Amino acid sequence: MPVLGIETSCDETAAAIYDGERGLLAHALYSQVALHAEYGGVVPELASRDHVARINPLIREVLARANLRPDQLTGVAYTAGPGLVGALMVGGAVAAGMAAAHNLPLIPVHHMEGHLLAPMLEADRPQFPFMALLVSGGHTLLVAVRGIGDYEILGESLDDAVGEAFDKTAKMMGLPYPGGPHLAKLAQLGTPGRYKFPRPMTDRPGLDFSFSGLKTAVLTALPKGATDQDKADIAHGFQEAVTETLAIKCARAIEQTGFPALVVAGGVGANLRLRERLGEFARKNNISLHFPRHEFCTDNAAMIAYVGWARRSQGQHTHTLLARPRWPIT
Ligand code: KG4
Ligand code: ZN
Repeated sequence: MPVLGIETSCDETAAAIYDGERGLLAHALYSQVALHAEYGGVVPELASRDHVARINPLIREVLARANLRPDQLTGVAYTAGPGLVGALMVGGAVAAGMAAAHNLPLIPVHHMEGHLLAPMLEADRPQFPFMALLVSGGHTLLVAVRGIGDYEILGESLDDAVGEAFDKTAKMMGLPYPGGPHLAKLAQLGTPGRYKFPRPMTDRPGLDFSFSGLKTAVLTALPKGATDQDKADIAHGFQEAVTETLAIKCARAIEQTGFPALVVAGGVGANLRLRERLGEFARKNNISLHFPRHEFCTDNAAMIAYVGWARRSQGQHTHTLLARPRWPIT
């Protein structure tokens, strides 16, 4: 049951093939990061045009690597949202065209469901139910996952997403776009304890987050003419505040539900300090902890192919093209 997955929701163009019995057969990705870097953020029109140029060769590449013809697929899955509308339309149109040409079912996939289930691509996949911390450039969610399609949002950010907070803070410190990984790298050179930033919303009950105040706290702390060491120390303090806040809320969510497993997904899941902190928590509390491999934390098509396959197995598909720039996961 090989299913092709296509991802074009933002600035990565990607294709992958997942098979229920044989697992992930092939995946390929082209990152547009360099294209957008000089603008300091993703330029939607440039993203759409580049997806048009890149997607077909990537699809041909994964089909060749999996040794499959298009008519041997059992479905074509694509990211239908959330994301940039023009970018989504490119992947959707290509998927719909392939599905029509080869008489295959078309499977629209929620991008965040892809991130949520990315750990299922690993050998030590989590068992249901599990708690998922979804941390990306656009989302910060704590989701109770009881099965495929059975999701309950227990907490979310009331303002900036964690990745967004990393990126904006990095930008204030003059780091290149996208700033998250650069800030994390700089934090490794920082002096522990020189800057202590607040752990927002941890002093009251609940599982929601807020990160915009933290950004302001950093701006206030950043001295005029800050040296490289000042910046590293601030980056360290910022990363400690963010990762501790996330760890506190994860612990609370696990305690509240009694779930035995925690899954961390989305781009910020690549953060080593976050992995370290949650690792300590999981060991102490006998919780099984799951991260996707590094390349499947950030946007990719393997997770879309996986969700496509899972949804196809449940009999879900359509023949109409769907693009939903805003689309809640539940
Ligand atoms: O999931 P993703 O690739 O795209 C979205 O769907 O948003 O997440 C991208 C986000 C960006 O904000 C990026 O700066 C952040 O993940 N990110 C990191 C790290 N790697 C990526 N943030 C902190 N530390 C990292 N190592
Ligand atoms: Zn994403």
